[in-house]
Amino acid sequence: MAGFELHDYLDGEAFFDSMAEDAREGLTATPKHLPPKYFYDERGSILFEQITELPEYYPMQTEASILATIAPQLIASMAPREIVELGSGSSTKTRILLDADKAASVQRYVAFDVSESIIRSAAEDLQRLHPNLYVYGMAGDFNRHLVAIPPASGKRLVLFLGSTIGNLHAEERVRLLRGIANLLGRDDRLLLGMDLVKDVGVLERAYNDSQGVTAAFNKNMLNVINRGLDGDFDPDAFEHRAVFNRELSRIEMHLRPSTRQVAHLKAIDLTVEVTPDETIWTESSYKFTPDSAKAMLQQAGMQLDAWYTDPKRYFALVLASCVG
Ligand code: SAH
Ligand code: TRP
Repeated sequence: MAGFELHDYLDGEAFFDSMAEDAREGLTATPKHLPPKYFYDERGSILFEQITELPEYYPMQTEASILATIAPQLIASMAPREIVELGSGSSTKTRILLDADKAASVQRYVAFDVSESIIRSAAEDLQRLHPNLYVYGMAGDFNRHLVAIPPASGKRLVLFLGSTIGNLHAEERVRLLRGIANLLGRDDRLLLGMDLVKDVGVLERAYNDSQGVTAAFNKNMLNVINRGLDGDFDPDAFEHRAVFNRELSRIEMHLRPSTRQVAHLKAIDLTVEVTPDETIWTESSYKFTPDSAKAMLQQAGMQLDAWYTDPKRYFALVLASCVG
């Protein structure tokens, strides 16, 4: 049964409220910080697609190649009736799984993302390539709206790819994984993509590309905040910084002003001063090891069923299920 529907859980007012709260809390804290979901307006989603095409950004190619290797066996043996994907983006990697579904077992695809525009364009592409697939789009925040995901229509495979799990802090990761566990029945599975700890040079180059796409992506968050809260940040007065914090096993992305900046966010009546000796911390990208991955799943009441990696061990796909 082909078709497409889109459900919006980000009604304008609620999204504004959460942005107002996040900006007020984050921009008056030390260090200043903003949550990464505000990267992804229409322009941010386009810039992100460009990041995934950069030669330095190894996670995309590596994850796609692991997926291509495991997809035929995974799909044939599990035969899921539906795929639910969190942070689905352009659904590029999903296509690898759907292309491997020779028996056409997958009938429904639930695409869940904070960017409505990217769900629409991904759904259009998918329906052209897989005319019999039903696409159920959900524009929402996976930290708040997982409960809105409809009951399973059959055996379910949940995808959480791109190491998006790594953009959450430890408590947030466990909370989200518990939410995912609630979406899984006994025979259902989660396929989770995770970037792994590796050489610092390789890591830092991936977040400091020579073409400046990642810098543009990072600065775009200030455009999103300006638009949402009637602000006057000058994105070009900030520079992009991404460094690996080995102790905490994460890349930290910041915006640092080259001169003192004063911005007004009129909608919430907030004045923000940022000096060159401080930054706005916009994102972390945690890097995992087999042990840290196992421990994280365990804390969420899940177990690791299979671990797939590439020859260089740059990235891992983990198949997990609920315990018991
Ligand atoms: N899964 C794709 C895209 C990864 S980029 C891939 O592997 O290539 C991360 C995606 O998660 C983006 O599409 C972004 O819009 C989405 N996203 C980020 N924060 C989110 C949140 N809080 N709720 C829902 N989607 C989110
Ligand atoms: N989750 C991926 C990562 O951490 C993709 C990503 C999110 C990203 N934000 C980014 C990549 C900013 C580069 C820059 O790698």
